[in-house]
Amino acid sequence: SNYLQPSLPLAGKKALVTAGPTYEAIDPVRFIGNHSSGKMGYAIAERLQALGAQVTLVAGPTALATPPGVSKLAVTSASEMLAYCEQHFSAADIIVMSAAVADYTPIEVATQKIKKKDSEMSIPLKKTVDILATLGSTKSSEQVLIGFALETNNELANALSKLKRKNLDYIVLNSMQDAGAGFATDTNKITVIDRQEQIQSFELKSKSAVAADICTLIVKHLQA
Ligand code: CTP
Ligand code: CA
Repeated sequence: SNYLQPSLPLAGKKALVTAGPTYEAIDPVRFIGNHSSGKMGYAIAERLQALGAQVTLVAGPTALATPPGVSKLAVTSASEMLAYCEQHFSAADIIVMSAAVADYTPIEVATQKIKKKDSEMSIPLKKTVDILATLGSTKSSEQVLIGFALETNNELANALSKLKRKNLDYIVLNSMQDAGAGFATDTNKITVIDRQEQIQSFELKSKSAVAADICTLIVKHLQA
């Protein structure tokens, strides 16, 4: 690993990254999920590792290979993701939460496959714990905490309110406006907002180039 190579800018730093979707079980064969590919978070984990950080990647179900040198913890549900994040948070210098965590989970998981009936059906849901907000509430000033936001309207205002509510250093807004940005693609277009409400907009580029931009911000933040 690159961890002990002192010439690298993030040598000696520990990073915690979340990626991918979570799956919330309904019964033994069904779940509530989303279209996150995990590509953005994996690209960030890979880049942080290349810059010398010791990286723990907590990832929901994805089709991606773990980047070499990255320590991956595979999870399925939001509550499993929370447990690993709580374990690794206090030791981490850099925390990047790019997972698309389910906001709701079934109140009860059926132990047998639910059979169809003639009537309509609905599934009672409860809110999941907001992992990012939970970590943000105990963050120290030495840690750099980065969240993501996916918005379809009032993008900047919504992202800024998430940054404040979750006590983040930066929030990365994923644009839904541009073709070529978002879930299924290999490219992304981001806008980053910091605590001083400064806004930085980036061009549409590959997710690995976006990861490099985010990691440049992290390196500068830790050097300042
Ligand atoms: N997040 C989290 N735990 C949750 C939900 C979200 O850690 N249970 C994190 C995501 O990883 C992301 C950030 O919070 O970094 C914002 O996620 P997003 O879905 O955009 O915002 P929410 O706060 O869930 O609000 P909403 O979905 O209503 O816009
Ligand atoms: Ca959400």
